[in-house]
Amino acid sequence: MSGKAGSSDASKRLEGKVCLVTGSAGGIGLVAVQELLLAGARGVTLIDLRQEALKTAQERLNEALAHLYTPEQIAERTLLQNADVSVESDVFEAVRATMSRYGQLDVAVVNAGLSQAPQSVLFESVEVLDRLYRVNVRGAYITLKFAALAMTGLLPATLEDTKQVNGLGCNSANLSREGTAGKGKSIIIVSSVAGLYGEALLVPYVTTKWASRGMSRSAAQELGSMGIRVNSIHPGPTDTEMFKTAFDTQEKRDVISGKTALKRVANPTEIARAMLFLASDDSSYMTGASLDVHGGQV
Ligand SMILES: NC(=O)c1ccc[n+]([C@@H]2O[C@H](COP(=O)([O-])OP(=O)(O)OC[C@H]3O[C@@H](n4cnc5c(N)ncnc54)[C@H](O)[C@@H]3O)[C@@H](O)[C@H]2O)c1
Repeated sequence: MSGKAGSSDASKRLEGKVCLVTGSAGGIGLVAVQELLLAGARGVTLIDLRQEALKTAQERLNEALAHLYTPEQIAERTLLQNADVSVESDVFEAVRATMSRYGQLDVAVVNAGLSQAPQSVLFESVEVLDRLYRVNVRGAYITLKFAALAMTGLLPATLEDTKQVNGLGCNSANLSREGTAGKGKSIIIVSSVAGLYGEALLVPYVTTKWASRGMSRSAAQELGSMGIRVNSIHPGPTDTEMFKTAFDTQEKRDVISGKTALKRVANPTEIARAMLFLASDDSSYMTGASLDVHGGQV
């Protein structure tokens, strides 16, 4: 797994915490799971569309964390959930399973996402926007919603009952009076450098990543009084399958590296460590923020 060499297990900033990470069968999400476990998380739910890749992910965690945990301990500390984040019932069941297994949820990393091949808006099909929107916006929204319900202790037993929650007339004002159910909780929405600037030939992707940034800022305003912080993170080019697919030649990779001040792409660990900062109390006064981790890309 990328990032094994540089990982630090000195910090136990997430001791006892329970986390979930969507899109965690590979890429940035899997390295984030590794970092959360290294920081002492007692449970991490891995949510991904790819069932076989989830099993491989657990094997990769066994290898990367062998110095710290036995495979049995990793199995206790991880819960694999095969789910499509754009399907409400899938995410509901995954969050419900997390609560059944660990009894709490402290951190949600809303990471699952899709990218696109560069294409002019003049020739791009609207289906590309629909496909990206379904995962990057709808999927993020569903994950945010059920994670926040779990963090506030309001996640009902069935998906049908979530409609009852809606019908209770709950709002941020009366929920905050309930006390501090969400204290110390953190939701991290993975946007992109594409959610900060405009980018030619990527109009659908950029649109969805600006949307997730707005989602993060708005949810932060609503959930802050309940003790839940919500921040977005904006990675620059990061060495994952998504990156390799989008930039499929060395020439293209050189162009994108050249756009960063650091003149290189990120290792996924460099993004996951910034996620860890937002997940932990080290960022306890940060909410509604956009954390740029893009190597100075302009
Ligand atoms: N890699 C980059 O250069 C880069 C840059 C900026 C932002 N990001 C963002 O970081 C996040 C992670 O990207 P990555 O590079 O690790 O991508 P990746 O393609 O390597 O991994 C994404 C994971 O999400 C899963 N996934 C996709 N659709 C899903 C769905 N509907 N339900 C559940 N799981 C689903 C995939 O199976 C995969 O395991 C994405 O939101 C991406 O937009 C990536």
